[in-house]
Amino acid sequence: MMKIATLASMLTLSLNVFAAPVEIKFSHVVAENTPKGQMALKFKELVEQRLPGEYKVSVFPNSQLFGDNNELAALLLNDVQLVAPSLSKFERYTKKLQVFDLPFLFEDMAAVDRFQQSEAGQKLLTSMRRKGLLGLGYLHNGMKQFSANDPLTLPSDAKGKKFRIMASDVIAAQFDAVDAIPVKKPFSEVFTLLQTRAIDGQENTWSNIYSKKFYEVQSHITESNHGVLDYMIVTSDAFWNSLPKDKRQIIKDSLDEAIALGNKIAMTKNEEDKQAILNSKRTQLVTLTPAQRQQWVAIMKPVWAKFEDKVGKDVIRAAEAANNK
Ligand code: SIN
Repeated sequence: MMKIATLASMLTLSLNVFAAPVEIKFSHVVAENTPKGQMALKFKELVEQRLPGEYKVSVFPNSQLFGDNNELAALLLNDVQLVAPSLSKFERYTKKLQVFDLPFLFEDMAAVDRFQQSEAGQKLLTSMRRKGLLGLGYLHNGMKQFSANDPLTLPSDAKGKKFRIMASDVIAAQFDAVDAIPVKKPFSEVFTLLQTRAIDGQENTWSNIYSKKFYEVQSHITESNHGVLDYMIVTSDAFWNSLPKDKRQIIKDSLDEAIALGNKIAMTKNEEDKQAILNSKRTQLVTLTPAQRQQWVAIMKPVWAKFEDKVGKDVIRAAEAANNK
């Protein structure tokens, strides 16, 4: 009896030795030298260090595997196990996350962080559970700036111009408010659209504008800080529940540590990339006076009211409250 048990455990051991590691595919759309790109690589390093031979993380940056149009569907099909879309790209799954797109809601990234860590912010991580998606954490990128092939100083400067936007009805309404033409397009197409002048402008963070070279094909960047571009790292409920509890904990801890590193990078990267863009002299910076910025606020802030019912007044109020330190 003893002998059979020993044999069985030896067999299991040898099978484990030869079993292929479980692959976690992590797909994203940005470059590797961005907060998200670096976070994904750190996550890979930590998981493979802590679960050697058992789990392997394959990172696919730059929309190599899936892009904006299909990454969440691919997650639900288990063709990929982790994605980290911008918070603007979840509209098909929940309207609650639209709160992050409301223009001029957050004063700075510290306020965004306070909201994400608050009870209301943490609740949003599970707001898509009925659709099979589970948020594992938030990751920062930074505040968005406008860019175009003309200086955008006053809201009237945007009139009639085509702007590429992420797939968000709130962002569409934000550009409608200044009589511009919002065009929803995947991130992977932005550079070509700008280069060929199929569109006139876009909005993004300094690190995305730098890493994807948008500044080389846009004559002006307005430092508007009008909204936030952050991420939610999501997995599918089905995949997450299929993991043994102890391994899941190790994977989650690794992700939390990778997020902490990504957030640290985000804090400095946008400023560094802004400087690199300015040093390149390929584009000009438009700095708004407080009175000019106030004109953008006055015209764009009424957008909030249109989305209040879907997002929830309580959620908006909690986000606003995060501006108070
Ligand atoms: C991203 O940062 O993941 C892409 C943002 C965009 O689509 O503009």
